[in-house]
Amino acid sequence: MSDTAPNTTESAGIRRQFAGIDLQELAKRHGTPLYAYDASVIRQRCADLCDWDTVRFAQKACSNLAILDLVRREGVLVDAVSHGEIARALAAGYSTKGSSEGQDNLPAADPIVYTADIFDHESLDAVVQHGIHVNCGSADMLEQLAQRVPGANVTLRVNPGFGHGHSQKTNTGGEGSKHGIWHEAIPDVLQRAEWAGLAVTGLHMHIGSGADLNHLAAVAESLEKTARDIGRSLTTISAGGGLPVPYQKGEHRADLSEYFKLWDATRKRLEDSFGHRIRLEIEPGRYLTAEAGILVTEVRAVKRQGSKKYLLVDAGFHTLARPVLYGSYHPMSLCPTSTTPPHELEAVAIGGPLCESGDIFTQEEGGFVSTRDLPPARVGDLLVIEVAGAYGFVMASNYNSKPFPAEVLIDDGTSRLVRARQTAEELFSGESVPQG
Ligand code: LLP
Repeated sequence: MSDTAPNTTESAGIRRQFAGIDLQELAKRHGTPLYAYDASVIRQRCADLCDWDTVRFAQKACSNLAILDLVRREGVLVDAVSHGEIARALAAGYSTKGSSEGQDNLPAADPIVYTADIFDHESLDAVVQHGIHVNCGSADMLEQLAQRVPGANVTLRVNPGFGHGHSQKTNTGGEGSKHGIWHEAIPDVLQRAEWAGLAVTGLHMHIGSGADLNHLAAVAESLEKTARDIGRSLTTISAGGGLPVPYQKGEHRADLSEYFKLWDATRKRLEDSFGHRIRLEIEPGRYLTAEAGILVTEVRAVKRQGSKKYLLVDAGFHTLARPVLYGSYHPMSLCPTSTTPPHELEAVAIGGPLCESGDIFTQEEGGFVSTRDLPPARVGDLLVIEVAGAYGFVMASNYNSKPFPAEVLIDDGTSRLVRARQTAEELFSGESVPQG
């Protein structure tokens, strides 16, 4: 397993293949923009986390049914934040009842857990209908659940009073975040749970996405303290997600063995105090799929604006929103139509087709346009945006009435279409013009 940022280029700034498939052929077959995922990378990332009793995929990162099916076959369970995500998990073959077969004396794990700060009506209905375990991020959820499922077991998602993320917008802890039950409110909330007749069997903390391991490690101590306040009813603890991945050259994949040891020791101390086994969960989204995915786009225009050169491609922030939302950096490379050796690299800004100036892939937080060094590109070349397998397709929109792109999964040298490109007609299906 490599521990450095993916080496995405075959020579500087050039990539001609992905997962053993010729990119020009892939684009010819499926069109662009196109998300492509490498199944073997996802399997490897699942295997990295095999020490944990439960790996629960935060499917919001990449929820195509084929991806859910793939991780399910790797023994990974799933998190859902909406009735739509519950429906996806069921459609991908997840069952509603857990088992702990082969895991000595551990309490059974729920295959699907609904984690949110509210129930909308549809989600509450889905939870009740399918008997889904709930991880409550607000005390109001407890009473709403108790009315429909008296005596249910619940998990509490606790905000420990601190958080961290790659952007302020992905920090889910502290007073600046709406997420979780405030740590100081736990005694009060436990009383409300008791009055409602619910048993608190799980405790969960997730302080943010793309956090660093030092911040994540601080969660273990805080969780242990809250676990002792809850007491012996606890059978499962969850470290949440947030594991960082390398996006930039020179960034290293985090060493997760120490992180696991820290959490395992926390779990063991709690087991000693409570006198029974505790299941230890981790809930990654990005870690499982980010590096497995690319976004393939086609260069449609090359132009100069004063001293700045722009490549305009057929994907925009409706296809990949991370740069415009967070100023996120994604590695990029060019797949030229010509086979002549690449020239020297040149600095280019890269934008999309949308009628909006913020539609730029090379931007920093605050919207400042930056550039990327790439070989000179021509119309018809492919621009490959890398490490795009998490929070890529799932955050796509139909802005400017642009259809959703297609998705393909590549496994063992074979590419399969796992989501057809949306058609123009599908864009407005469900709309109607009032008659009369
Ligand atoms: N668990 C909970 C309760 C979460 O809210 C999240 C992410 C995760 C797990 C998974 O976090 P991960 O392991 O992927 O960091 N759109 C943003 C990320 C938003 C994350 C939302 N919650 C981005 O593109 O960076």
